[in-house]
Amino acid sequence: MSTVSRYTGLIEHYRDRLPVSDDTRIISIGEGNTPLVRLENIPREIGKDIDLYIKYEGLNPTGSFKDRGMTMAVTRAMEEGSRAVLCASTGNTSAAAAAYAARAGMTAFVIIPEGMIALGKLAQAMIHGAVVIQIRGNFDDGMRLVKEVAEHAPVTIVNSINPYRLQGQKTAAFEIVDALGRTPDFHCLPVGNAGNITAHWIGYSEYAGMSTQACAFCGGDCKHPCAAVSDKRPVMVGYQASGAAPFLRGEMVDHPDTVATAIRIGHPQSWDQAWKVREESGGWFDECTDEEILAAQKLLTSKEGIFCEPASATSVAGALRDIKAGKIPEGSCVVCTLTGHGLKDPDTAIKQCEGDMLTVDAELDAVKKAILDNLA
Ligand code: F0G
Repeated sequence: MSTVSRYTGLIEHYRDRLPVSDDTRIISIGEGNTPLVRLENIPREIGKDIDLYIKYEGLNPTGSFKDRGMTMAVTRAMEEGSRAVLCASTGNTSAAAAAYAARAGMTAFVIIPEGMIALGKLAQAMIHGAVVIQIRGNFDDGMRLVKEVAEHAPVTIVNSINPYRLQGQKTAAFEIVDALGRTPDFHCLPVGNAGNITAHWIGYSEYAGMSTQACAFCGGDCKHPCAAVSDKRPVMVGYQASGAAPFLRGEMVDHPDTVATAIRIGHPQSWDQAWKVREESGGWFDECTDEEILAAQKLLTSKEGIFCEPASATSVAGALRDIKAGKIPEGSCVVCTLTGHGLKDPDTAIKQCEGDMLTVDAELDAVKKAILDNLA
C-alpha cells in the first residue's frame, strides 16, 4: 500500500461532492485544508466561557478564501474550452483569478477600483500576469461592467455569480465539520458581496443532508448530496462594515466606504441568497465601525498571534460584541472566518502602529536601554 499522502487541493479531497468528472483536468495550487485555530487568550480576557475558533483562510495559496472558489471556477472554465477569465474585484478575487489563470495557461482580466486595492493584492494580480484594468469607479461599477462586457467578449466571469465559485467555497464548511467532529453552533463571517455566507450555507446544508442545490450540477446523477454527515446546521451571522452595510440598511448603498476595502461593496450580488441564509439559519446581520474592525485586527495579532486583513477582522469584531452581550450564549461553539491574510494590506497595519517603533543609535548602551525600558 502506498504511504504517500500529499494534499493536492480541495477538489481532489471533496471530489464526490463537487461538479467534476473523472476526466476533468483539475487546476489546483493546493488550496483548502486551512487551520481551525482555537482562540485561547481572547475568551479568557473577555471572561466568557466560549469555544471560539477562527478558520484561517488567509493561509490559502494566494492568501484568501477566494482560492476555494477559483480552483473550481477555473477548472470548469478550462474544461468548457474558455481561454480567458474576467472578474471585478476589491482585490482578493483578482489575486486568485490571476494565480489560477496562470496555472491553467489562461488570460485573466481583472477590473479593480482605482486607488482602492490593498498593496499586496495589486502586487499579486500584476506579478501573476493578469491584465489589470483600473476603473474610475468602485467595485459595484466594476461588477456592472463585467456583466455587460461578458456578453460581448469570449471570457468566463469568475466572480461569485459563477455558480462553481460557491461550489468550491462550500468546502470550508465541510472542513470545519470534519475538523470539529460536529457542526458549530454559530458561524460568523464578514459579508461583502455575500457569496461566501451563501456558499457556507450550501456546504452545511449538504453535510446535514438538507441540500436543495447540489444536484443542479449533475442533473440528479450525482453521488454526493444525500448522505448526511452531520445532524444540524449552524446559526449564520453576517457582519458588515458600517459604511458599507446594505443588509443593515435594507437596501443597496450607492457610496460604500470603509477601511476594510475588501468589503467596500454597496450592491451585493448574492442579496436574495444571503437573506435566505439568515432566515433559514435563524441568524442575523449586524455592522461594525471601522474602529471596531481595526481594534479586532489588533487584538488578534497581539493576543493570539494571528494576522488577518481588516475585512476579515469584522467577523471577530462582531462576534465578540455578540458574545459579550450574551446574544451568542456562553457554552457555544463559535467559528469566525478570517477571510484574508494580514500581509495583503501592510499599509493599514503599519498605520495602526505608527509611533510604536523605536529608533536608536547603533550602540550597545542605546539598544540595551531600549530593551530594559520596555520589558513587561
Ligand atoms: N473578506 C475578504 C478578505 C474579501 O476579500 C471579501 C470579498 C469578503 C470578506 C466578503 O466576501 O463578498 O463573499 O461576502 N472580496 C471580493 C473580492 C469582493 O473582490 O476580492 P463575500
